[in-house]
Amino acid sequence: MVEKNRATLGGRLSAVLVAAGSAVGLGNIWRFPYIAGENGGGAFLIIYIGCILLLGIPVLLSEFAIGRHTHKNSVGAYRSLSKPWTPLGYNSVISSLLILGFYFVVSGWTLEYFTTSVSGAIAEFTSSAVNAEKFTAFTTNPLRPIICTILFALLTHIVIALGVQKGIERSSKLLMPVLFVMLIVLAVRSIMMPNGVDGLRFFFSPDFSKVTGKTFLDAMGQAFFSLSIGLGCMITYSSYFNDRTNLQKTAYNVIALDTLVAVLSGMVIFPAVFSVGIEPTAGPSLVFVTLPSIFNTMTFGPLWSALFFLLLILAALTSTISLHEVLTAYLHEERNLSRTKAAWVVTIVTTLLACASSLSLGAWSDFRICGLNLFDSLDFVTANILLPLGGFFTSIFAGWVLNRSILRDEVSDHGSMKCRLFGLLVMLLRYVCPALLLWIFLYNLGLFRL
Ligand code: PFF
Repeated sequence: MVEKNRATLGGRLSAVLVAAGSAVGLGNIWRFPYIAGENGGGAFLIIYIGCILLLGIPVLLSEFAIGRHTHKNSVGAYRSLSKPWTPLGYNSVISSLLILGFYFVVSGWTLEYFTTSVSGAIAEFTSSAVNAEKFTAFTTNPLRPIICTILFALLTHIVIALGVQKGIERSSKLLMPVLFVMLIVLAVRSIMMPNGVDGLRFFFSPDFSKVTGKTFLDAMGQAFFSLSIGLGCMITYSSYFNDRTNLQKTAYNVIALDTLVAVLSGMVIFPAVFSVGIEPTAGPSLVFVTLPSIFNTMTFGPLWSALFFLLLILAALTSTISLHEVLTAYLHEERNLSRTKAAWVVTIVTTLLACASSLSLGAWSDFRICGLNLFDSLDFVTANILLPLGGFFTSIFAGWVLNRSILRDEVSDHGSMKCRLFGLLVMLLRYVCPALLLWIFLYNLGLFRL
């Protein structure tokens, strides 16, 4: 039963847009290129797409089914379906909190680069060495990135405070098409730069000699992170879907859009990386060092740059909103806080964590967890451990515990959609996903090598 005054989303397009709004974000444009760069490019892309198909589709469909069937936040959803599985809902609360702890920081960087573009100062980013220096000077500064982080958190708060329907639906509808066109323009521009084709070759021709166990772990983590799955975010969002939402089409559209944006980002970044002579393994700074170089080859460079970073801000915002919503919906529905109070608690706690993780790149860089600073630990622990673990248990839950008729009913939209591949879905959930996830984990622990 839907709680009386619980919001629902409009038609099918809205469902696709909000879910894609959550999926498409910094994960595609900032994280994907640098993780792919660190893992050798082409071979990573193939393994990544394999993870999307074998793990992403079944887990996303399961989360959609669980969310829409229960119309509850992730903790409430698992509790109402099977009490012993409630901790899986808490995994989503913890993961969302930890992700916001570094995601707000990178989102803050996009604000900084936007203002730098608007002021025209981006024209001073004249070479990759200068760009890298400016990036490091900014991110290690004790004050400026923190101000940007706080501003971004407040921006998210405002959209959340406007409510699920108005805030989230409107912002998602605006963003997608423009971002898409912009990425295509930039990709063309980047490929035309000197040696740009070498970058395309790096990205599209697989070199399997570079593949290690870590490549699989990174690809799997990136797939979960990018699709916003494994942490109940899509459970929370689909809890606002109505009965007319076509779950299968929504899932396929979200996956197609998300993967396309990631591939397009690779086509923007790698040609430029090879053109201006940056190492593709440069890590989290990759996009922020590369992009200004592309803009500075363009007429009206600062204008393009401002437009691009504005889009990146919006893409990041639709993702931070979804993470924030997981936490707000939990506190509101499970802890009986008013929505306003819940939203403030979430904003304050996540902002404090994000400020600490921003400082861990500079003033607090001596504080290390297993050799990593706080920022990198939050990124690694969530993407490479908590989300895949969440995906592992979600597939076991959906494949073995959840009543089969509930799964079939939801995936077929109460019988109105054909679901020819339902048997395959169940097989993937029961055997393939858990086995694959377990193998990748054990392989990386050095315990199980074929
Ligand atoms: N999928 C988002 C991105 O690619 O930027 C990040 C994200 C959002 C991860 C929401 C997890 C989540 F629940």
